[in-house]
Amino acid sequence: MTQINNQYKRRRFLTYLASTPLLGKSFRAVGQSPSEEISIPIDNAEEAVNVFDFETVARTTLSNAHYTYLSSGVDSGETIKANRAGFEKIQLRVRRMIDVSEVDTSIKLFGKSFSSPIVVAPCGTQKAFHPDGELATARASNSRDTLQILSTVSSYSVEEVNGSRHEPTWFQLYPTEDWNVTRQLVQRATNAGCPAIAVTVDLPASNREALRRFRRDTNMECLGCHIPGFSNSIQRRPMFDGIDTSSITTTRSSNLDWEFMDKLRDFTDAKLLLKGIVTSEDAELCIEHGVDGVIVSNHGGRAENSGRGTIESLPEVVRAVRGRIPVLVDSGFRRGVDIFKAFALGADAVCIGRPYLWGLSSYGQTGVEKVLDLLHSELKMMMQQAGTKQLSDINNNYIA
Ligand SMILES: Cc1cc2nc3c(=O)[nH]c(=O)nc-3n(C[C@H](O)[C@H](O)[C@H](O)COP(=O)(O)O)c2cc1C
Repeated sequence: MTQINNQYKRRRFLTYLASTPLLGKSFRAVGQSPSEEISIPIDNAEEAVNVFDFETVARTTLSNAHYTYLSSGVDSGETIKANRAGFEKIQLRVRRMIDVSEVDTSIKLFGKSFSSPIVVAPCGTQKAFHPDGELATARASNSRDTLQILSTVSSYSVEEVNGSRHEPTWFQLYPTEDWNVTRQLVQRATNAGCPAIAVTVDLPASNREALRRFRRDTNMECLGCHIPGFSNSIQRRPMFDGIDTSSITTTRSSNLDWEFMDKLRDFTDAKLLLKGIVTSEDAELCIEHGVDGVIVSNHGGRAENSGRGTIESLPEVVRAVRGRIPVLVDSGFRRGVDIFKAFALGADAVCIGRPYLWGLSSYGQTGVEKVLDLLHSELKMMMQQAGTKQLSDINNNYIA
């Protein structure tokens, strides 16, 4: 009993520390993702009751620079907020008296089955969050039979990451300005077994103010590890090893157009997805240009400041696509019920970014596993509450 009391007192004290502006790194971090949830400090991954518990640990574990990189968006973060607010506008109609003692959360994408519809979104530079970076994410998503999409700017190479999984990842492509560089990136990913390439198209420009301000103010902290300059930073990315990058000035090119997509379509037999589609017009064009899938995304509020949540963009994309190609969605998904809503609006899978990065930052592989488990069990509970035995049972009738 005394032990329990002491544990309780210790937690109360830690909670106080985490919330006080006087102590704790949360005071110094310059993120734009203050969670709306109250969470209690945890000592290990198993203690987490929801994904926000890991946000609290990440905030206090990471350096300010890396926490800012993880949490921030563009301008004043309105689109980050809109991503969450969008879910609140949707109410559900739930059915009763259906035997839901067994529910099936499996999905099939391009002929391959996964036990969970929760996909690990491509997030760059994961060594900033944990020394094992993408390898920890690979092992975790592999153990949970979940798809992982690997970023062009990953800290480990596609060969190393695919070596940590039974099934290869999909590869996310930042096309750069030079076709020659792009071509070699795609070739390397497909040689490593990646069956699909997700081309990110939402970053012709972005105003990462929090990050810029942070870099200026605390330059010294960053200089310990980073040598300033684009070419220095690109040379540190394993995916560019052996590629002549002298012609490129950015990985996020602003010269992308449909002609580029046609060229890429001709070049590779891999499945091609566009990541960052948010309108029916562009969804139609994807189909016209032979694209195999779309990811409805605003980069987690890190691209443009549209002020529109992706859960609000999803219906028009689904209507335009009419079931011809899979529609994935990301940005702001933090609860099983959010995932349920996306399925009710016609999504085929949901990707998560920051939640698994919080888990990774906190406890490496076990943190990512617990984040995937929590979201998966919340989704299963929601399916039981709504009377849906499998994901294909969830449809528009469940939207009030
Ligand atoms: C730290 C961080 C790094 C990211 N890096 C990439 C990247 O390299 N390529 C990419 O297409 N998207 C990247 N994203 C966007 C994610 O793939 C995804 O769209 C977004 O995180 C989903 O929103 P959420 O974080 O609210 O779940 C990154 C996101 C974060 C938070």
